Amino acid sequence: MKHILTSCLLAMCAMTASAQQTPVYLDDTKPIEQRIDDALARMTLQEKIRVIHAQSKFSSAGIPRLGFPDFWTDDGPHGVRPDVLWDEWRQAGQSNDSCVAFPALTCLAATWNPSLSMLYGKSLGEEALYRGKDMILGPGVNINRTPLAGRNFEYMGEDPYLTSTMVVPYVQGLQSMGVSACVKHYCLNNDEEYRHQVNVVVSDRALHEIYLPAFKAAVEQGKAWAIMGAYNLYKNQHNCHNQYTLNRILKGDWGFDGVVVSDWGGCHDTDQAVKNGLDMEFGTWTNGMSTNRSNAYDLYHLATPYIQGIKSGKYNTRELDDKVRRVLRLFYRTTMNRQRPHGFLCSESHYDAARLIANEGIVLLQNRNNVLPIDRNKAKRILIVGENAIKMMTVGGGSSSLKVQHEILPIDGLRAKFGNTAEIEYARGYVGDVTGEFDGVKTGQDLNDKRSAKALIAEAVEKAKNADYVIMIGGLNKAGYQDCEGHDRKHYGLPYEQDRLIEALAKVTDRLIYVNVSGNAVAMPWKDKVEAIVQSWFIGSEAGNAIADVLAGDANPSGKLPFTWYASLNDCGAHALKTYPGTWRDTNDKAAGSDKVIDEEYKEGIYVGYRWTEKHNIQPTFAFGHGLSYTTFSISNLRLSSKEMTRDGKLTFTVTVKNTGTRRGAETVQLYIKDIKSTIDRPVKELKGFKKIWLDAGEQQDVDITIDNSALAYYDEATNAWKSDNGEFEALIGNASDKTTLKGRFALK
Ligand code: BGC
Repeated sequence: MKHILTSCLLAMCAMTASAQQTPVYLDDTKPIEQRIDDALARMTLQEKIRVIHAQSKFSSAGIPRLGFPDFWTDDGPHGVRPDVLWDEWRQAGQSNDSCVAFPALTCLAATWNPSLSMLYGKSLGEEALYRGKDMILGPGVNINRTPLAGRNFEYMGEDPYLTSTMVVPYVQGLQSMGVSACVKHYCLNNDEEYRHQVNVVVSDRALHEIYLPAFKAAVEQGKAWAIMGAYNLYKNQHNCHNQYTLNRILKGDWGFDGVVVSDWGGCHDTDQAVKNGLDMEFGTWTNGMSTNRSNAYDLYHLATPYIQGIKSGKYNTRELDDKVRRVLRLFYRTTMNRQRPHGFLCSESHYDAARLIANEGIVLLQNRNNVLPIDRNKAKRILIVGENAIKMMTVGGGSSSLKVQHEILPIDGLRAKFGNTAEIEYARGYVGDVTGEFDGVKTGQDLNDKRSAKALIAEAVEKAKNADYVIMIGGLNKAGYQDCEGHDRKHYGLPYEQDRLIEALAKVTDRLIYVNVSGNAVAMPWKDKVEAIVQSWFIGSEAGNAIADVLAGDANPSGKLPFTWYASLNDCGAHALKTYPGTWRDTNDKAAGSDKVIDEEYKEGIYVGYRWTEKHNIQPTFAFGHGLSYTTFSISNLRLSSKEMTRDGKLTFTVTVKNTGTRRGAETVQLYIKDIKSTIDRPVKELKGFKKIWLDAGEQQDVDITIDNSALAYYDEATNAWKSDNGEFEALIGNASDKTTLKGRFALK
């Protein structure tokens, strides 16, 4: 009997011990907000602190006792970044983290096709799920204010309406997979140089009309679950803990219920982090606090210093509970979502999506004498010139760098497309960046070539003399001071003496096709000497196939520029007014993270991109919204649903689009609004609607675009509110910002 009792007691003790270790699985039948209250009430102070800061380069802790797993995030925005070690930037050396590289966001924006944004988000979400990531650090929606900005390729162009329209489905698609978006970099991170010190000075009007709309749309319409604070300052406060942009605008005015994540190392001060809206702190060796001590996450501003502040009575737990509540909400939306699918990595459908987006995003900028598409009957000898024809572009550029399962090089895509019917030759033409490594991911390419520029050009010219078509594939790359995080470009011109090369080639062939690989515009002094110009962006895994599809005419180009292609840098407001990169100032404010800041005053105000060139009658090389096709379209017969619009009413514009050429293609109808008589200075016109439509040769269809009062409004600084004035407006409709031939007047009453 005694024996039995003892064993029962032992068994009970064992049960109690294991029950203590077994997570308490909270009732998952209740609505999320109730479950958050329940979880919050059970959490200890330590547990609360642990979930609001990183525990490794890309993860934060869960709450094992309550059944919440760790939370994993990763870059973004073009594919799922390969895994680095727990506390180092070196590669973890996984063999299952090669991904599909989707086209850069500039290319996505250039499709002007929101359904492709949705496809992008979903496909990326599936890759993220397979890789065990709960949040992707993207998309990026900072406005292209200067073509020198190193990270423009990760963003969606210069126009707030286009950017807002394209970001919403990306966020929705990604989050439909139970993977959080983290929209970045909020806000005013419009160039890279001195990004930790730049203090942006901008009018409220430009802030609300140009720089915030895409973030607002991502939050209000896309329902983004997370947003990343930017490195730079605004109103002398770093954007990762900024009273005005985070507490007042994002969480106050827009009612954001998600999590504000710091950019990696962008948090500088516990007091500000506690009070000014930051919810989760990420990034190692923040502020140099740990002086390179490894695993110093307990030293984070939102770790031990915060606990000490609470224990000493400096802080109460009101802010902490708000942060934790938001993090728990993020957990319930992602890691605790039991409906989440498993995901796929490198599936065929992801490659198809990447190719489709690339095909629709590539922009045919110029096509003299209809030199494109390449005529297979005339193309017996094709010469390909240029480093970008043979260089992998998915490695480099900073945090968006990827490790891909495969990347089709332009030269290989062209060989596959034309190799059966033509002889294909290659000439290097110039040597640019031969490094090919980022954080230990190596392209494995040896691009070294010690020949002089003169010799390289001479070789290319010699070969070009015998070629039926010359395809030069050049542009920028993702090395430092090119299209790359951390710095901006130093010059607007093409690097590595490519101008000389192009001029020399143009002299010996009348079938010169220049394919520009970049995320930014470049100077093209030789524009009128080449027949065709194709903007091909950084388009990822399917690059070579997509370029070949377009050059061969298997894909009829339909991309439109998401930014203005200035003829020279001075045609851009930020440079004309010499406001970039700003002026240094001592602050003596170490708490703010640096005792020196550089004030960058956006003196051009709302006049960014085409808003600037149109105001000053400047002719760009290629206008915002420009892009050609291998077929032709007419847009005619503008009809307005009414000549008057009421403040809470809508107005529909209808036009007839006809494919007047000989092959199927797509046209994007663009609607711009002009305020004819306004009480304040307004742009000549602003994009307020667009629709892309595919038509067979000879086919025609009506296209409707509907606007409401918000399309007529400006941000009124006196009342801090959007306002529109009664009176006459004009709708300008066409297929590019410089080709708006249809006009219709209406009045706001
Ligand atoms: C970049 C972010 C990125 C983060 C994590 C930062 O340097 O600015 O865009 O998401 O690093 O890699």
